[in-house]
Amino acid sequence: MKLKTRLIISFVIITILPAVLAGFVVWGVANYHINAIEQTYGISGEEYREFKQSLGTLNEMPEVHEFLVTMMGGVILILALTAMTMILWIYRSLLRPIEKMEIAVKSITEGELDFELRPEKNDEIGQLCKDIETMRRRLKDNAEEKLKNDKDNKELISNISHDLKTPITAIKGYVEGIMDGVADTPEKMDRYIRTIYNKANEMNTLINELTFYTKIDTNRIPYNFAPVRVNDYFNDCAENLSSDLQNQGVEFGYFNYVSDDVKVIADAEQLMRVINNIISNSLKYMDKQQPRINLRVKDVGDFIQVELEDNGKGIDAKDLPYIFDRFYRTDASRNSSKGGSGIGLSIVKKIIEEHGGKIWATSRPGTGTVMYFVIRKYQEVPIYE
Ligand SMILES: Nc1ncnc2c1ncn2[C@@H]1O[C@H](COP(=O)(O)OP(=O)(O)O)[C@@H](O)[C@H]1O
Ligand SMILES: [Mg+2]
Repeated sequence: MKLKTRLIISFVIITILPAVLAGFVVWGVANYHINAIEQTYGISGEEYREFKQSLGTLNEMPEVHEFLVTMMGGVILILALTAMTMILWIYRSLLRPIEKMEIAVKSITEGELDFELRPEKNDEIGQLCKDIETMRRRLKDNAEEKLKNDKDNKELISNISHDLKTPITAIKGYVEGIMDGVADTPEKMDRYIRTIYNKANEMNTLINELTFYTKIDTNRIPYNFAPVRVNDYFNDCAENLSSDLQNQGVEFGYFNYVSDDVKVIADAEQLMRVINNIISNSLKYMDKQQPRINLRVKDVGDFIQVELEDNGKGIDAKDLPYIFDRFYRTDASRNSSKGGSGIGLSIVKKIIEEHGGKIWATSRPGTGTVMYFVIRKYQEVPIYE
């Protein structure tokens, strides 16, 4: 049954039912009086009436009768008016918002999400309106995110094809060169093979980065979190980096300001990935004769802060807010010969966030870049006996 029909029936019940009941009550009371008269005076109601009429007292009777009828009519009118007001009130406060919500839900089902459902009042129906509005907004956000993801995925595929195609074309060229006998001296042959090897390595790195990215994006990287002593970890890390970087002619500085007992909860392997990723960017976007990289580890209260500074070409202020976005590469690096997918820093950001930390960067074009990240310290809970 429709709500409208129900309201009409309620109206009928509210006005007619009391009238019928009142009729019954009046009839019952009259009957009771007649019975009482019969029992008290031993005469029938009709005889009593005649007797009273003979006395002249029943002359008032028609007036009383009229009064009663008018009063009943009045009461029924009042009932009808009150019922009408109540039903209109319910109609306005229930049916109208329900109709609005019905239209809204229908639009949502049809995929139309560009509207706003405003609650009229702050009651249960208003709350329901608000919930539907929240649902609409969520769905809209999801739809927008899906569109963005689709666009990103398309861009990723075109990036991958481009980035894989470049080394493959080179490999093909060099192999053809060897087959055609262009590499006719052992030195040439050596150079060709070395180039092929390097190009293959480039492809391998790219594919690894992509595989890792898809895994991390779908939360398929199992983290092995454990308490790590900051000093031990970064001392080892600096030692490895120092020899690696010095071999590549990079000056490396390591500064640690953290006291010996400080620990963090971290996945040592993933943290190393973060550092390596940042340093590989520093090397890739280096334009100075004497490259320099500094690693600083600081104690900043509840967190430890790691800073990696380079004296590379720097990042424009307009690009800085976006470098941690996936696939984002600055125009300068996109136009350079340096390959890259623009996902390195998005991986770094994701790992740091999974550690409950934050990452950001400052940079001066032409002078260099500093990457900062913080990780919360691990506070051992003392056990009292
Ligand atoms: N140390 C740095 N110096 C200069 N530019 C940087 C540095 N690190 C990152 N960038 C810029 O940020 C972009 C995003 O970095 P990343 O996500 O690692 O992508 P990729 O290295 O594959 O280009 C880079 O393309 C580069 O333009
Ligand atoms: Mg990178």
